[in-house]
Amino acid sequence: MRKPLIAGNWKMFKTLDEAGAYAGDLARRISDVDSTEILVCPPFVYLQTLVQAFEGSPVKIGSQNVFWEDSGAFTGEISAPMLRSIGASYAIIGHSERRQFFGETDETVNKRLLAALRGGLTPIVCVGETLEQREAGKTFAVIEAQVKRGLSGIDTDRASSLVVAYEPVWAIGTGKTATPEIAQESHSFIRGLLKDLFGDETAGLVRILYGGSVKGDNIDSLMARADIDGALVGGASLDAASFERIIRFKGQ
Ligand code: 13P
Repeated sequence: MRKPLIAGNWKMFKTLDEAGAYAGDLARRISDVDSTEILVCPPFVYLQTLVQAFEGSPVKIGSQNVFWEDSGAFTGEISAPMLRSIGASYAIIGHSERRQFFGETDETVNKRLLAALRGGLTPIVCVGETLEQREAGKTFAVIEAQVKRGLSGIDTDRASSLVVAYEPVWAIGTGKTATPEIAQESHSFIRGLLKDLFGDETAGLVRILYGGSVKGDNIDSLMARADIDGALVGGASLDAASFERIIRFKGQ
């Protein structure tokens, strides 16, 4: 019912030459894949090059952020219509690194989300608790606030195209993956929040990705869980061979 989505978030890595070589390599490796949707989210400067490099392949291209106005005097920002015009189809919104280092809040996440939907981009909205919040027993309260504030004001008929990424901050780049049990518990909680917001049918269509130290050796057990519909992969997406292993998770 929900097509799995494996997305690579490159963060701030790779030069142009490295990006081009990777695209050729990955396109060759995964040309036969059609049961899983594949997405690569490079830095803005390589978006157009990679849209062209992956043309005719199953790989889609997304941005790592998007601004909430369509155009105007906003030096340094990139809008949804601009991203659509170069062939990007997804946008990551509210990644924990943007929340931590660049002042992102649930309110700005919500503005970006509405702009992405308006502009025809599929938003991947990131939520997740810090280690301190988990240890204080606040995981569900944090997730609930991020989901409810981040996703407010969306029409139910648009909500089914949304993607939510659960990325516990303590698992990002640390090598400490959430166990499939912990991830499933949060995913199922998020699905329940989506039911409250949009109803059972729509909530059943929204894909919820897990992110945080996803690798070839843990993807299979994560994907076996009922509410884990894919992965948002950082470090392990930077190498085409290791990303291919994740894309070809077992149990499909
Ligand atoms: P890692 O896979 O490197 O832990 O990063 C996860 C992430 O932040 C993806 O957005």
